[in-house]
Amino acid sequence: MLEQLESHYQQAQQELETISDSEALHRWEIRYLGRKGLITEMLRSTGRLPQEERASFGKRANEIKNQLTEAYRQREALIQQQALARDLEEGQIDSTLPGRARTVGGLHPSTQTLRLYAHIWAEMGFQVYRSRDVETDDYNFQLLNFPPHHPAREMQDTFYTDRPDVILRTHTSPGQIHAMQELGENGTKPIRVILPGMCYRHEQITARSEIQFHQVEGLAVGRNIRMTDLKGTIAEFAKRMYSPEARVRFRASYFPFTEPSMEVDVECFLCDGAGCRVCKYTGWLEIAGAGMVHPNVLRNGGYDPTVWSGFAFGMGSERATMLKHGINDIRYFWGNDLRFLEQF
Ligand code: PHE
Repeated sequence: MLEQLESHYQQAQQELETISDSEALHRWEIRYLGRKGLITEMLRSTGRLPQEERASFGKRANEIKNQLTEAYRQREALIQQQALARDLEEGQIDSTLPGRARTVGGLHPSTQTLRLYAHIWAEMGFQVYRSRDVETDDYNFQLLNFPPHHPAREMQDTFYTDRPDVILRTHTSPGQIHAMQELGENGTKPIRVILPGMCYRHEQITARSEIQFHQVEGLAVGRNIRMTDLKGTIAEFAKRMYSPEARVRFRASYFPFTEPSMEVDVECFLCDGAGCRVCKYTGWLEIAGAGMVHPNVLRNGGYDPTVWSGFAFGMGSERATMLKHGINDIRYFWGNDLRFLEQF
C-alpha cells in the first residue's frame, strides 16, 4: 500500500507540473485531495493495515498530503500571476485609460434664465415672492380691473377647470394682488418684489407660442413712485441683463391693471439695432409689458391710491432664452428631449 501511495504521489506531482489553467487545477485537486481523492482514500484506509504498519504509513500519507497541498497553492499563485501578466500584455487592463465620466444633471435652460433674472433683480432690491399657479377668476381678472365682459379677457384664452371659478393663471399679475394683500399690512408698507412662475394659456401650440410659459412679474409700491422710476429701473435691468450699452424704448400700450401702460423693447443685441431676421428688421426686441399700477388695483390690494403709487412689469423668460441660445422653436422647452436639454 505504501508503494501505491508513493506512486500516486509521484503521479500527482508530475501532473501538477503540466497544469497551466485554473480549471485543470481544480480537477487535479478533486482527483487527489478532494473528499474522494486518491490521497484522501489512502489516508482513510490506514485502519485496514496491520497494527505495526499503521503509524509509519499514516505519517507518510499525511506528509504527502501536506506537500501536495502546498504544491497546489504554489501552482495556483503561479497561474494567477501568469493570467495577470497575460491580461496586461493583451491590453485587457489598460491603466492609462481615462476613467468613465459620470453624467451629472443640469438645470433646464428656462430655470437658468429665471435664476439669472432673480439674481439681477435681487441686486436691485427685489425679493422673490411666490404665488400659486391655480387662481380664481377674481384674482386673475376681476381684481386686476378686468370687468366681467372686458375684451382683454379674450387676449388670454383661459384654461378653466371643472371646479367653478378655479382657473390656471394666464399671467403672473394676480401675484400683484396677493403680494399687496399679504405683504402690505393693510396698505401701510412699501413693497418691492418679483413673482416668477408658470402661466397657462389655451392657445394653438406653434414654434412661437406654447400653452405654458414662464413670466417674471415685478411690483414696486411706495409713496411718490413715478413713471421715471419705472423707466430707470427697466433701463438698468436691461443693462445688467443684456449689455452695458443696451438701450431701451417704451411704446404706449394697454393693460387693464396699469395706467398708463407700455411695452418695453430692448435694442436688438444680435444686430446692435441695425436690423436682422430675429428682430424682423426693426432693430428692437420686445422684453416686457409694464405700467403704473392702476388706482383700482392699488385699492384692491388695500392701498389708498391718493397716497400710494407703484409700477409693475411682466417679462417672459422663454423668449429671452431662445434669443440667447438661438433656439428657434419654443416646443423644445417642454418636449423633454434629452438631446435638447443636454446642450445647456
Ligand atoms: N400681465 C401682462 C401680460 O401677461 C404683462 C404685464 C405685467 C403688463 C405687469 C403690465 C404690468 O402680458
